Amino acid sequence: MTDNKQAIPGVLKALDENTEAALARLVEILKIPSISTDPAHNDDCARAADWCAATLADIGFEASVRSTNGQPMVVGHYRAEGEGVIPHVLFYGHYDVQPADPLEEWDSPPFEPRMADDGTNGKIIVGRGTSDDKGQFMTFLEACQAWKSVHGALPVSVTVLLEGEEESGSPSLGPFLDANAEELKADLALVCDTGQWDAASPAITTMLRGLAHAEIIITGPSRDLHSGMYGGPAQNAIRVLTSILGDLQDAEGRVKIPGFYDGIIAPTPEQLAQWVALGVDDKTYLAAIGLERMAGEQDHSLLEQLWSRPTAEINGIIGGYTGPGSKTVIPSKASSKLTFRLVPGQEPDKIINGFKKFVSDRLPADCSVEYLESGGSLAVGFDVTAPAFRCTAEALEEEWGKAPVLMGCGGSIPIVESFQTKLGMDSLLVGFALDDDRIHAPNEKYNLISFHKGARSWARILEKLASL
Ligand code: BES
Ligand code: MN
Ligand code: MN
Repeated sequence: MTDNKQAIPGVLKALDENTEAALARLVEILKIPSISTDPAHNDDCARAADWCAATLADIGFEASVRSTNGQPMVVGHYRAEGEGVIPHVLFYGHYDVQPADPLEEWDSPPFEPRMADDGTNGKIIVGRGTSDDKGQFMTFLEACQAWKSVHGALPVSVTVLLEGEEESGSPSLGPFLDANAEELKADLALVCDTGQWDAASPAITTMLRGLAHAEIIITGPSRDLHSGMYGGPAQNAIRVLTSILGDLQDAEGRVKIPGFYDGIIAPTPEQLAQWVALGVDDKTYLAAIGLERMAGEQDHSLLEQLWSRPTAEINGIIGGYTGPGSKTVIPSKASSKLTFRLVPGQEPDKIINGFKKFVSDRLPADCSVEYLESGGSLAVGFDVTAPAFRCTAEALEEEWGKAPVLMGCGGSIPIVESFQTKLGMDSLLVGFALDDDRIHAPNEKYNLISFHKGARSWARILEKLASL
């Protein structure tokens, strides 16, 4: 392809004329309940992987489904031909989705995608995975499909990697990247699994928080006890667990684990100034989730708390009697799952070890603690002055009529760190999700305009990357 500038109008026109077919393809993949964390859905994950490979093959990729110890990977290759050095990108997305529960809070079945008209967003599609990440990775495949159908070729060489375990922490990905490094290496990774700034403003995500997860089981008495026969003298496992967990933060919202903040690399003054200029209002942000008061570190702004400060969160507590009526029991055991969001300079292992010491130091006499499997991923950040960032910003500006916001991200995408450490590639994170998409929650949705303009954006980004 010699003149990509001339090539783009035709591709955009094809995308505009084929929205129905694109939507039909999205509906097909959304109907497959590919919940990676639940072994009962292993067959569905395999079916989703097969669907992705078949769709890539239809576009013209050499596609394969590759087995792992967990859910399969899908890999597709397209080698562009032409004069000179043609850039090669690796596109990453995930076909697995979060569990749909609580089911009763959905207005329609999570795996029967439904179109609706939403007062603020126009046409939307509702269903598990619409925004995270099926609707998003399909924006890229639709862009490839349009390029291929209009020009018979893609403007750059593309490898697509779709995994099925992102929502369970990507356990098979490290070994898969190690084993297939030569095959997967490219100049740059493209990831479509993040958000826009708002419905009218595109964004490039320049940093992601890391994650460490832990699970503990506290045991007190050797068996559950009658609270009349033993209440008073006997220790209570839930009381021990909650008092330790209740001690994790101080009154100012600071995490009390010794060493938790050691080595943290703070954002630069320029970054902080840029975040201030984004003009985010605490009250508006909190009001959208039914809250009024900031509950994090009191001496840090909202965006710092979200993007550049670490957290300790209790995700779940299990223990004792929770059935109907009351039961006078003193529980023998109580357990909890926790996650820590990490920022540059923190390491998952050190954080987990600090947490273990924090718990062990507070364990009263006669109690024991068991630490279950733990793990995590590092935070990542990118150099936004790199040429690929600049030309992506141009492409987004052409599509959206305004420059993309450079934003941080409080969430984690574990693979992005592995791309850096194992394949030596930076990632370009461009996504089209919105804060009100309800990812991981009931009635997850994706705006059809996001789906359409997302595909148009990728079509333009590929064109720009080709001329790098
Ligand atoms: N797409 C999300 C990451 C994300 C969240 C991006 C919010 C932008 C805004 C991803 O699928 C996700 O849910 N990641 C998990 C990782 C975990 C399961 C290892 C997360 O952040 O909790
Ligand atoms: Mn995702
Ligand atoms: Mn997710």
